[in-house]
Amino acid sequence: MTSGAHTEVTVSPSGAGGPEKALLRFLTCGSVDDGKSTLIGRLLYDTQLVLEDQLTVLERDSRKHGTTGEELDLALLVDGLQAEREQGITIDVAYRYFSTQRRAFIVADTPGHEQYTRNMATGASNCQAAVILIDARKGVLTQTRRHSYICSLLGIKHVVLAVNKIDLVDFSGERFHHIVADYLGFAKALEFSSITPIPLSARYGDNVIRRSEHMRWYEGPTLIEHLESLDVEEEIEEKPFRFPVQWVNRPDLDFRGFSGTVASGRVRPGDRVVVAGSGRESTVSRIVTADGDLAEACAGDAVTLTLADEVDVARGDVLAQADSRPEVVDQFAAQVLWMIEEPMLPGRSYLMRIGTRFVPARITSLKHKTDVNTLEHIAAKTLQLNEIGFCNLGTATPVAFDPYAENRETGAFVLIDRFTHATAGAGMISFGLRRATNIHRQALLVDKTARARLNGHRPAILWFTGLSGSGKSTIANIVERELHALGAHTYMLDGDNVRHGLNRDLGFTDADRVENIRRVGEVARLFVDAGAIVLCSFISPFRAERRMVRELVDAGEFVEVFVDTPIEECKRRDPKGLYARALEGKIKNFTGIDSPYEPPESPEVVLETRDGPEQAARRVLDALREQHIITY
Ligand code: ADX
Repeated sequence: MTSGAHTEVTVSPSGAGGPEKALLRFLTCGSVDDGKSTLIGRLLYDTQLVLEDQLTVLERDSRKHGTTGEELDLALLVDGLQAEREQGITIDVAYRYFSTQRRAFIVADTPGHEQYTRNMATGASNCQAAVILIDARKGVLTQTRRHSYICSLLGIKHVVLAVNKIDLVDFSGERFHHIVADYLGFAKALEFSSITPIPLSARYGDNVIRRSEHMRWYEGPTLIEHLESLDVEEEIEEKPFRFPVQWVNRPDLDFRGFSGTVASGRVRPGDRVVVAGSGRESTVSRIVTADGDLAEACAGDAVTLTLADEVDVARGDVLAQADSRPEVVDQFAAQVLWMIEEPMLPGRSYLMRIGTRFVPARITSLKHKTDVNTLEHIAAKTLQLNEIGFCNLGTATPVAFDPYAENRETGAFVLIDRFTHATAGAGMISFGLRRATNIHRQALLVDKTARARLNGHRPAILWFTGLSGSGKSTIANIVERELHALGAHTYMLDGDNVRHGLNRDLGFTDADRVENIRRVGEVARLFVDAGAIVLCSFISPFRAERRMVRELVDAGEFVEVFVDTPIEECKRRDPKGLYARALEGKIKNFTGIDSPYEPPESPEVVLETRDGPEQAARRVLDALREQHIITY
């Protein structure tokens, strides 16, 4: 998962010449006031990662910006950018590296406010542990619950409850135990494998690296002892082998290899593997790298595999251990975190990236969203930025996955906005929906081509889009009259009419408009299959849904007609008196007034007001002839 800019730290092999130390990636959660930056600064400072020149700057900055009087303000070590310091907040995800004798660490430092939920999720997605900070004076807060929930959602199994500023409550054991009991009561539901509470003072260093003199009642580990010894069980190498194919490497006829990065598990020549989608099996022959063949590759290794048999494998396929296969479905349930300003709309088509595969996908239903502060389930139609919802999704073709709880590498996906290419959402798959695999398409003996031949014309969707009152239905009616007179098989689907029947349950919110067009698109597709020319007259204000309908049929079968009547003219006409009422505030979400209209970017036909309806209809018929839909 990625979002926004972040500081990446390159990890070099630790200790010159020594054995490579195990790496622990952990996340720190808390807000500025909890002393999160001070804690990270303390870890860097006490593990002596702060260089001389940094110290000089730190001393100067501590006097200028610091909040600690004459002492060093360690928070300034990590708070980075000047602008952020001045605002007193930290933004984005910053990755920092330090190491001790026993272990190397990467700390993902993310801001704590609710509006940065997506940043926190980004940071959490590849961490093995989280340090959740609590201010000993304040105890468990709403944000503590939110941070814990997001950690649990993103698959973090180990939590350290860092009860900070313990010096400010006189190193009180009673206070500490009270906070711990409070936290454990709430965290039961989150199913962490370990929760380790530690009383500490980041500012003075108590129980961070150095055991505190002030808390004889505490017998547990210091923060660093705990992080050094944390047993991160279920390493990704121990999971079943998964290899999403990045590209098929075929330099000449003698060599055919599949390149990619091992997502989980390990593989050796001789292992039986399966192409997840097709179920075809083969045996691994070689593991090829630029530095020669390997006897084994494991999670994280970028390699090229060759197989003993000629099996069909394409980019985006997953090679998997033959006796422990991923699921392959085109519908599943997942938790989705929304990451862009534009709300998530069920029914809209997004591009899903799962592993190395890109596939069109839509959220078919939003079961509920979760209030990240109270963990309550709330009924909702859409997800806004930073909201998390439990959804059913459908993909255009089946995809291979493991539930996220079992494998974070193959259970995660992102949804990409098809116009802006922004990462719109991040998902964690809960389970596949079996019903999808049990419904097969019925093969039909008479097909679209056969029906078209009988009709004497090609089938098509004529899609009229434009504002209310632009003249869509008037023009479409004339076009249908003419087509009918020419002997074509036609049908008309009109917004006002369809909304009395099939779509009587839908209103005019963005979400309902998306669903309106999705259903109409499916019906129009059936008419095309039946060999007809189907005229559709809908405001259809969103580009994404018009494109979705276009993609439902074959190339050349979708003709977009933009009835480009300016809003002033529509208001002047106001055939149903709706603009007047909308302007008085009596109709909400009215297109062009308080609801958007996105004009088409490259419609097949643009009709302007000066054409007049009869002339406009002639232009549409000409376009149909040009596209060889009708030949008369
Ligand atoms: S769409 O946006 O979902 O494509 P559709 O074409 O089905 O809309 O329906 C539009 C018709 O519904 C308009 O021509 C108008 O008669 C009526 N209508 C009622 N309320 C609204 C509204 N808030 N916005 C737009 N049209 C409305």
